[in-house]
Amino acid sequence: MSWLVTGGAGYIGAHVVRALVDDGESVVVYDDLSTGSAERIPEGVPLVVGSVLDRSALDAAIRDNAVTGVVHIAAKKQVGESVEQPLHYYRENVTGLQTLLEAMASAGVGRLVFSSSAAVYGMPDVDLVTEDTPCLPMSPYGETKLVGEWLIAAAARAHGIRAASLRYFNVAGAAAPELSDSGVFNLIPMVFERLEAGEAPRVFGDDYATPDGTCVRDYIHVADIASAHLAAARRLADFPEGTALTLNIGRGQGSSVREMVDRILKVTGRQDVAPQVTERRPGDPARVVASADRARELLGWSARHDLDDMIESAWQGWRRRHG
Ligand code: WQD
Repeated sequence: MSWLVTGGAGYIGAHVVRALVDDGESVVVYDDLSTGSAERIPEGVPLVVGSVLDRSALDAAIRDNAVTGVVHIAAKKQVGESVEQPLHYYRENVTGLQTLLEAMASAGVGRLVFSSSAAVYGMPDVDLVTEDTPCLPMSPYGETKLVGEWLIAAAARAHGIRAASLRYFNVAGAAAPELSDSGVFNLIPMVFERLEAGEAPRVFGDDYATPDGTCVRDYIHVADIASAHLAAARRLADFPEGTALTLNIGRGQGSSVREMVDRILKVTGRQDVAPQVTERRPGDPARVVASADRARELLGWSARHDLDDMIESAWQGWRRRHG
């Protein structure tokens, strides 16, 4: 197989590229470098700089590299920004995917692994979210991921593509400091940033209907996300043409914001600091925790890394970036 990894210069993409390469797969990265960085790509892996909206550049990348499978990770991923710029998000995430599927169908590329998100579920009112839990996305970002899954299912059936949409839960950590996330949009880096600024980390609300009153999430190490892609890339061959799998990629374990912040303070050696409870952040569901059974059954995959692996590796990456 020769895999085209869109978004392969980004935080998650670079981890996926590394996992595929380490496992002996042939990989080409396709990335517009709008948020990604070429430095994350391992030596010897070709980089095509291009947009997923550029059909002729996609055609050329597929043809020139004899691509037989695609891992589509390139996307806009900030929930708040998607509310301000929905058209931009639909264009990049939905029209980009449609363009890619057209290029795949026309070239006869038969396998696809797609980055979806737990954001497709919105505010699930269940203890463990299964893939059959109703999808009611709360943001244009989540909508674009759900529409993307529909587009893939329809195209897979019509064009004999084997596809897997992986619904990531809360991704954290890094397999190596240089691969870490450069954004400060999620809980762990946001706590690091507050500590660095000499400010108390914030807990957005402690009056939720959860055991300690703070929101519960399913945090998963990015190296486990990467191994899920590898498992999907490998296992797709066992399914009939036209299969479109939808799989939760989480640990199946909930952690509260308070528990996370306490652990982060411990790892960073800042137990002198007291977190500050503030207002709820609008739109936050109380609890989002995966049932990871289907991925285990169909891919033989499960997560291996724990919370301390995530926080410690994220901290090493942060220190590398911020001195
Ligand atoms: C986690 C919890 C916050 C910062 C988002 C997207 C989702 C996915 C991952 C996709 C929440 C709380 C945070 C802080 C806090 N993105 N928090 N203090 O919102 O679960 O998921 O990122 O690609 O689609 O919605 O993740 O890391 O922002 O927040 O109390 O300083 O931490 O309220 O409960 P979230 P998050």
